[in-house]
Amino acid sequence: MTQQAPRTRVLTGITTSGTPHLGNYVGAIRPAIAASHAADVESFYFLADYHALIKVSEPARVQRSTLEIAAAWLACGLEPDKVWFYRQSDIPEIPELTWLLTCVAGKGILNRAHAYKAAVDRNRVEQLDDDAGITAGLFMYPVLMAADILLFNAHKVPVGRDQVQHIEMARDFGQRFNHLYGEPAGRQFFTLPEAAIEEHVATLPGLDGRKMSKSYDNTIPLFAPREQLKKLIFSIKTDSRAPGEAKDTQDSALFQLYQAFASADEVSAMRKHFADGIAWGDAKTMLFERIDREVAPLRERYDALMANPAHIERLLRDGAQRLRTTYATPLLTQLREAVGLRDLSAQPRDAKDTRAAKRAAPTFKQYRESDGRFYFKLVDGERVLLQSEGFESARDAGQLVAKAKQDAGASFALDPEHGAVRFGDGVVGRIPEGGSFDELRAALARFAEESA
Ligand code: TRP
Repeated sequence: MTQQAPRTRVLTGITTSGTPHLGNYVGAIRPAIAASHAADVESFYFLADYHALIKVSEPARVQRSTLEIAAAWLACGLEPDKVWFYRQSDIPEIPELTWLLTCVAGKGILNRAHAYKAAVDRNRVEQLDDDAGITAGLFMYPVLMAADILLFNAHKVPVGRDQVQHIEMARDFGQRFNHLYGEPAGRQFFTLPEAAIEEHVATLPGLDGRKMSKSYDNTIPLFAPREQLKKLIFSIKTDSRAPGEAKDTQDSALFQLYQAFASADEVSAMRKHFADGIAWGDAKTMLFERIDREVAPLRERYDALMANPAHIERLLRDGAQRLRTTYATPLLTQLREAVGLRDLSAQPRDAKDTRAAKRAAPTFKQYRESDGRFYFKLVDGERVLLQSEGFESARDAGQLVAKAKQDAGASFALDPEHGAVRFGDGVVGRIPEGGSFDELRAALARFAEESA
């Protein structure tokens, strides 16, 4: 894969913890593969097998699911010479980056992650300890996911609503890292990703009419053999209306499934059959034949792929190898250098070094003078940018400092006549000889970045 005009990078991760079903096909595989054919995107598809370990502790199931999902995506038309197709655990830079991000990720942010919070809530309902049965893997899940995304500087990540929070967290961790290690030298290591929310994609009902999902045990495997597919479709829940009675399309799982596969013309024909009182058995036969028409050629390719797992293994390894050489290894070399995991014989860098730059960042100093009053000043290295008035209490001075940091000086105003700095009605300090209000403003603005 060559890198010419910068293309939008779209990254999709699939946790390898189950067997692909019709809901995955309609909701994720089919639209993602269609999108991969756009000329101006560089697509990344990967099997998130490290993520699978968070939920699945049966090794054979992880292996089986990884193979099935890889074969399914290939059978559905993913072209591994046109897109990046790889397995997460073949890229050691992902767990390495996970650690670097772990060290900038706020624990408080992770506390708010939905999946973790839901697990805590379940424990509370059952009156167990908050953390009963919760692994650090579940807690750290969003950091691993951020590493998946940031390592390849993805611009867009197509996800369902439930994953949007994770993309926000990836942005947060990436921004913190950029700020902490990139900024002194004016560098941005990471692109901040955006969630591409798939609103228009249908969620498919399952056999019982609820959303098709592994956790409801109501799925229809995408590549069930023809006979099994038929059997499952015949087990879809319907109401008890007899042949000849008009049927309702509104809440019909059968109708919705049909819609996900049929053309507009086919759908209106089916609508008419419903109104005319088609027998459920006949409607099921039509649904079965319609799905099978689309799936049969894919199933044939799938069966052939599943019969040759060594081919898939080679393909995945090759994808990961090229991806490491092109992006992952060079980026990690830069990141290691940036954080200080360096060749010991190399001279430590000084002026541009992050720590040096941090030392030079403006700080507030609070102190008490011999007059018994409380003061603060804003200093940048040796220079004093703002000298406060004296205050009766340490608390008064402290509150102003806190306020200045919090709003980055937005509520301070300059009284140009006296070089005095005002807060509300009162003068709170002055700018010493040689200083300027602009300089003060710029210094205070850095507090906004710090807390961002
Ligand atoms: N967490 C995603 C899911 O359960 C899978 C995933 C892992 C992912 N890493 C990712 C998705 C990175 C998008 C980007 O569906």
